[in-house]
Amino acid sequence: MNIAELNATAQAMVAKNRGILAADESSGTIKKRFDSIKLQSTEESRRTYREMLFTAAAAQAYISGVILYDETLRQSTRAGEPFPAYLTKHGMVPGIKVDLGAKPLAGFPGETMTEGLDGLRERLAEYRKLGAKFAKWRAVIDIGSGIPTQYAIDANAEGLARYAALCQEADIVPIVEPEVLMDGAHDLARCEEVTNAVLDSVFSHLFAARIALEGMVLKPNMVISGNECPRQASPEEVARATVRTLKRQVPAAVAGIAFLSGGQSPTNATLHLSLMHASGPLPWPVTFSYGRALQEDALQAWAGQEAKFAGGQQAFAKRAKLNGMASVGAYQASMESAA
Ligand code: 13P
Repeated sequence: MNIAELNATAQAMVAKNRGILAADESSGTIKKRFDSIKLQSTEESRRTYREMLFTAAAAQAYISGVILYDETLRQSTRAGEPFPAYLTKHGMVPGIKVDLGAKPLAGFPGETMTEGLDGLRERLAEYRKLGAKFAKWRAVIDIGSGIPTQYAIDANAEGLARYAALCQEADIVPIVEPEVLMDGAHDLARCEEVTNAVLDSVFSHLFAARIALEGMVLKPNMVISGNECPRQASPEEVARATVRTLKRQVPAAVAGIAFLSGGQSPTNATLHLSLMHASGPLPWPVTFSYGRALQEDALQAWAGQEAKFAGGQQAFAKRAKLNGMASVGAYQASMESAA
């Protein structure tokens, strides 16, 4: 393990004014996204879509790194340049999703455990050769009646810690992503309580597994009302509760925090991030690692049509820029129409 290299990579991933594009949708998930624009999901349509995002020159100043899917890591631009080489050349760190998805946790109805540890050491060695400098593993915690259980929280935290150890052994920065879902009727306080418990378990397992916090990035959910909760907390309440929870649970040595968007609208995800910075200095770099909230506008503008390739890039660049501003607390809602 080379801590200096891990730390340098992690710092580049959370560099000022920039954040991470999560473009690591599995073939099943990207099919759902393409269904919304009535586009057939083929190896070539997926490649074209990713090329549209990665080569949007006006977005590149705001994108520090890109999370790729196994298929995408092996694909190339139309000009024949492998995506990892293209991204590196343009100052964006290439990364790879390595988990194999959340599967039902035996004995715990309604809960899941993320799989993918078997053979991970060998897969990481290959990914590193293909150019990946960081990895991502997503654990999923659902809030509902009687869940999450402490057992499911701890099992997922242990999975994250074992994954992170294998990454650091291979000089790959682990993005540690414990996602508390926003599905359900629970309120902000319940999300805060669960997020606290999850982060507490995650950091105690990371400590036990001897993870170098300086060489990892945390990708948490924001503390937010469930999407069916009758009273939706205000953006200011979300920002306050999220910062309070992270300050209680995340050691200052962690190289950076990059949020998932988790189903928030693009404008909400941008606004929440900006308000967190507006509330005062934070002990870690805090930025975005959005999938849906960064891609939604671009996907709709592109609509799978070659004639709209440049339009998709413009929409992506606008959203990337607004998030870049949010990552330093400089976003205003009025910029939505101007940018
Ligand atoms: P969302 O921002 O769409 O939640 O995706 C981020 C991600 O990488 C989920 O694993």
